[in-house]
Amino acid sequence: MNESIVRLTQTRDLPDGELLALISGPEWEADLAQAADAQRRKWYGTDVYVRGLIEFTNYCKNDCYYCGIRKSNGKADRYRLTEEQILGCCRQGWTLGFRTFVLQGGEDPWYTDERICRIVRAIKGEFPACAVTLSIGEKERESYAAYRAAGADRYLLRHETASDDHYQMLHPASLSLKHRKNCLFTLKELGYQVGSGFMVGSPGQRPEHLLADLRFLQRLQPAMIGIGPYITHPDTPFHDRPSGDLHLTLRMVSILRLMFPYALLPATTALGTIHPRGRELGLQAGANVVMPNLSPVGVREKYSLYENKICTGEEAAECRSCLESRVRLAGYEIVTARGDVKEDIHD
Ligand code: 5AD
Ligand code: FES
Repeated sequence: MNESIVRLTQTRDLPDGELLALISGPEWEADLAQAADAQRRKWYGTDVYVRGLIEFTNYCKNDCYYCGIRKSNGKADRYRLTEEQILGCCRQGWTLGFRTFVLQGGEDPWYTDERICRIVRAIKGEFPACAVTLSIGEKERESYAAYRAAGADRYLLRHETASDDHYQMLHPASLSLKHRKNCLFTLKELGYQVGSGFMVGSPGQRPEHLLADLRFLQRLQPAMIGIGPYITHPDTPFHDRPSGDLHLTLRMVSILRLMFPYALLPATTALGTIHPRGRELGLQAGANVVMPNLSPVGVREKYSLYENKICTGEEAAECRSCLESRVRLAGYEIVTARGDVKEDIHD
């Protein structure tokens, strides 16, 4: 076993140069995955947590250059789910064994704080034992506080890239990394279990940017870290930029498991999109969460952040059982539990 990997496992940290070598070195992929899998088993056994993902609006006021639902994409067929439709997804999800519902959408002002709070209260009222995760972008502290008071438990907001120059390359001038980071720290202060993360292989990304992502996450100490490859979308300014690399993504998943052994790390849909067994490989590289789609089949194609997204034609139950067997074949077990983050225990 590579000596840096042993030390990373023991101390959860390495000097910049050694981390960069692991990030950049294809030769370490198998060793990293082996060490990461051992660490995941120590903390979580073979448990894999499921989160039911409800993509409730693809309207977005932002214009991120990489994203298929950016406001300038006139070809996007826009939709919003009603409160009753969202609750319908949750009811179906509950029956299928989901105990976490993730409400994800573009930054859509139609869903005022009042509406979001109503939806959260309705879900928690009907399913008090579930966890509600919001993934609706950058908001004011007061809004985050209101959602929390309404019952939201968790919040996902990827930082996307922790380097200013790179952030500006990926986003229009109206968006800033500073504001996004502030949002993340505010969410933590408000008592959310916070998820952050980044895309791997986004245009202009270099290994130094990935290193900066790891350093930022060390400061933030999130409960959840979602990463996936950047995938080209034809109707964006980055239509001619190549998608991110499977192997680099897998190495990053393993490095994250070793640096944040207690974290909840999803094997993402993007990973499953760039390779037919991408999510299984993600689990074997250290991931311990999967997020099947609970959105109504009629809208799934429309929530097109990137090209060829998987699971858009499946019913919720099919997706659930498909994932169940994929997870089992990979050597793990889906569990029906809220799947809260484990308290960090230093050993
Ligand atoms: N490829 C991969 N991931 C993307 N996301 C948005 N656009 C793309 C793309 N083209 C990711 C972002 C965002 C999450 C919801 O989806 O990281 O935070
Ligand atoms: Fe959705 Fe396989 S996980 S169909």
